[in-house]
Amino acid sequence: MNTLLLHCRPGFENEVCAEISDQAARLDVAGYAKAKTDSACAEFICNDAVGPERLMSGARFARLIFPRQWARGEWLTLPETDRIGVLLDHLKSMPVFSSLWLEVLDTNDGKELSNFCRKFEAPLRKALEKAGKLKEGGQGPRLLLTFKSGREVFAGIAEAKNSAMWPMGIPRLKFPRQAPSRSTLKLEEAWHHFIPREQWDERLAPGMTAVDLGASPGGWTWQLVNREIEVMAVDNGPMNEELLDSGLVGHYRADGFAFRPKRPVNWMVCDIVEKPAKNAALLETWIGEGLCREAVVNLKLPMKQRYAEVKRLLERIADGLAERGVKASIGCKQLYHDREEVTCHLRRL
Ligand SMILES: C[S@@+](CC[C@H](N)C(=O)[O-])C[C@H]1O[C@@H](n2cnc3c(N)ncnc32)[C@H](O)[C@@H]1O
Repeated sequence: MNTLLLHCRPGFENEVCAEISDQAARLDVAGYAKAKTDSACAEFICNDAVGPERLMSGARFARLIFPRQWARGEWLTLPETDRIGVLLDHLKSMPVFSSLWLEVLDTNDGKELSNFCRKFEAPLRKALEKAGKLKEGGQGPRLLLTFKSGREVFAGIAEAKNSAMWPMGIPRLKFPRQAPSRSTLKLEEAWHHFIPREQWDERLAPGMTAVDLGASPGGWTWQLVNREIEVMAVDNGPMNEELLDSGLVGHYRADGFAFRPKRPVNWMVCDIVEKPAKNAALLETWIGEGLCREAVVNLKLPMKQRYAEVKRLLERIADGLAERGVKASIGCKQLYHDREEVTCHLRRL
């Protein structure tokens, strides 16, 4: 049990290795990170068996940027027949689990394995319950089984409150048919990730005001309007007519980096494709000058050292706000709907 497995978007394995190594150094957990390119996962191999648990309890999963899911455990080889027997035997010495998720990696092989997992789940669940190893809704950890093939599985454990909210860290969001672009799901996912559900009514309330920078055709604006928030949509490009007809949207053909609202707004969101340093500076200005209370801004990452770049930008934002004497919470995540990018969320406190 000396391995921590982390899922990620394929192509971001090096970022996960760098980030988890940083966390391990901070927590004084000895070990090393390894990953195969495009495998959609990385592993942190600890020098001792308590390392993974120390890493997981010392870091908040939701605060990590690139990992989509994590679990501590080990790889098992399963036989062709009686996979369940071998799994039960392996889990014997483990605590009683409060939930079971069967997961695959976000690769083509992984997609092909999803069917196998669906079929395997019901009999496995039944056997675990019968053996007293699974009590849904109990206090125990979550059992996370990541299948690499029908014969190779990572038998992992994670605390439900300190791991991904959805299996594989992939939210099942339904694309709203009326929304004018698929990007709409990025903002919805950001809200799920950064705002506890019970606070939505207070922090995304009807009658609030927002500025959407780089708004065309209106996917993000649609999300705001859907919550009855009044939006200043800033873009030289055209906005969806139905959104304009909603009476809640004003279209400003202006440069998003120069635009300032006459009065402070509740929200600023920005999806402009620009150098990440420029978008990060914009974020610092809006929160720092009190132009908005909360902001969601996308940072595109076309460079190689993406973790190092994001870390540098987040530190710069934090330093800038500290110099102004402004307190804010700063979050950053590569969401499932993000491609070569991450999403930042800031809230003035
Ligand atoms: C990725 S798209 C935004 C998609 C939008 N969030 C949606 O959900 O439909 C980026 C937009 O930024 C706009 N843009 C680029 N530079 C801009 C600038 N300096 N000021 C305002 N908008 C800009 C582009 O016209 C483009 O419409």
